Order: sequence, then structure tokens, then C-alpha cells
Amino acid sequence: MKPKVYITRKLPDQIVNGLSGNFEVTMWQDETTPVPREVLEKEIVEVDGLFCLLTEQIDESLMEKATNLKIIANMAVGYNNIDLQSATDKGIMVTNTPGVLTETTADLTFALLLATARRLVEATGYLKSGQWKTWSPMQLTGQDVHGATIGIIGLGRIGKALAKRAKGFDMNLVYYNRSRKLEEEKELGIEFVSLEELLKISDFVCVLVPLTSQTSYMIGAEQLTLMKKTAVLINTARGDIVDERALYQALVNQEIWAAGLDVFEEEPVPLDHPLLTLPNVVTLPHIGSASIATRMKMASLAAENLMAGLTGALPGNLVNPELTSVQKGRGHS
Ligand code: DGY
Repeated sequence: MKPKVYITRKLPDQIVNGLSGNFEVTMWQDETTPVPREVLEKEIVEVDGLFCLLTEQIDESLMEKATNLKIIANMAVGYNNIDLQSATDKGIMVTNTPGVLTETTADLTFALLLATARRLVEATGYLKSGQWKTWSPMQLTGQDVHGATIGIIGLGRIGKALAKRAKGFDMNLVYYNRSRKLEEEKELGIEFVSLEELLKISDFVCVLVPLTSQTSYMIGAEQLTLMKKTAVLINTARGDIVDERALYQALVNQEIWAAGLDVFEEEPVPLDHPLLTLPNVVTLPHIGSASIATRMKMASLAAENLMAGLTGALPGNLVNPELTSVQKGRGHS
């Protein structure tokens, strides 16, 4: 009997076909709506492998129902939607999709930085609503990006790719990270500073850390107060890293100048969210990795990880490697 796999969202045929040769595949048939929790709870009972997205909460109670489950392949680099400890305790491998989305996400982060600094969304609205009557000296003026200081919080793959783009714009580069990155410092001419110092000196503060219990609300009222009044905050990581209420207050009280957000504490962000009322907040629907090529690569990589985990090979992107080192995983005997 072929191992059973459940896919939580309709994927392109070429990805599904690659899996259905080896596995008995069931898939949620909607491309734009997440699988309802009650459906997932039923489907997961018998499966050996789960292919999921960041829209699914894979928590302990769900995993408890899945007595055959050997691997959860998340189609995202972030895996805060999965209770990793519970998965590890139960011997379930968890994989993510790092690397393939690095450059695309850095592109979007820099695009959001430029759009926020130069008020592109506001300017388009200004034109389309017929407010553009003449050229005026201070009309829709923004912040310069070239020559400004960018502070990157989290110098991982995407942080580094962002730094390269910023260097091309003649920006001064500083970063804060759990550990120093001496190679990158040399290669990019980026300087390590404390988080406090970064917030004080940066014109653009870019959040690129993964969401963990340590980074949740890493940017709150206290941190926002340290920032320059002309500073711009960019978040393309996870919404919960920034305290949105504090951010709203900081923007309304003009403690900082603007924000560009691709991620929110609640997604989709409710349409009556106060941040959506502010003209100096550029908002996007979590599209950091959304290029056609990159999304295909992410789906392929997640499928490869799943395939490896169910055929006794070591998945390339295991985030709980302790399972294989002691041969404890359900997929290994
Ligand atoms: C991720 O991969 O974690 C992004 O948020 C979606 O690409």
C-alpha cells in the first residue's frame, strides 16, 4: 500500500503529479481558501505525510490525531505555524523551504522600503483621485533612500540579500543579530550594533527575524520611541514581531515617519484595522515570496522534502534534525 499524503491547498498539477506516482494523495481542492480545521482534523488521522502552508496551525491537538504522521512539509521558510516541540516529541519530522525564496523576498522588502519612503501608493491615489492640479515644491515629498542608514534586524539569508541591495543604493549598513556575522561584515561593509543603537541611528529599520518566543513583540512602544522621527519601519517577516497597537500610536504621535508592512498579527488583516487608515502606512497581503518562479520552487522543495521523509531518505530541510541523529523519527527504523 502506498503511503498517504494530504495537501492542504490546491497546487499546480506538476507538483501533485510528482507526488501521486509514489503516494496516495488527497488534496484540498480550493486554491484560495484554506482547508477548514474540521476537514484537516479528519484528513490527518490516517496520513503519513502532510504538505501544508503557513495558513494552517499544526498544533499538538491536531498531531495527536495523526498517529501515522511521519513528516510535515511546510511550504514556507517560517514554521511558526507548527508546534515544533510537539512534533519532535512525537517523532514527526518538520521541514521548511529556505534558500529558494531569499532573493525574491529581499526584492520585495526593498521595493516596500522604496514605496514607503517615496510615498508611491499615496502618490498613485493622489493622481487617480484628481488631486494633481500642478507641480508644487513640497508636494508628496518623502525620505531619501540613497545615503541613508539601513538597520537590518536579523542578518540571515534574506537580511544579507537585502544588505546587498542597500549597498547598491549607497546606504550605510548596520545590523543586529543574535550572533555576530564576521564574514558578512567584511563582505558587505555592514556594522554590528546593539538593537538599541540600531533603532536610534537607522533611517530605515527592517525586521527580518523569524518569529519565536524571543522575537514576539521585539518591536514595541519602548523600541519605537528610540527611533528617529523621520524613520521608516519595514516588516516583511511576521506580524507578531511588531506590536501593532504601539506602532499605530507611534505613527499617530509622529514618533516615526512611516511604516511598510507585508505581514500582520492577524492575517488577512481585518479591514477595520486602525493601521489601514493611515496614509503613511503601505500595506501588502504577505507577498514577500510571491513571484511565479519562486512559489513554484517553494512548492517543489516542499514536495521533495516530503518525498525524502517518506522514502527513508533524510529530507534536506529538516528543522528538527535531532530526530534523525538519534534515529527516533517515525520514518526511520
Ligand atoms: C515564508 O516562507 O515564511 C514566507 O512568509 C512566505 O513565503
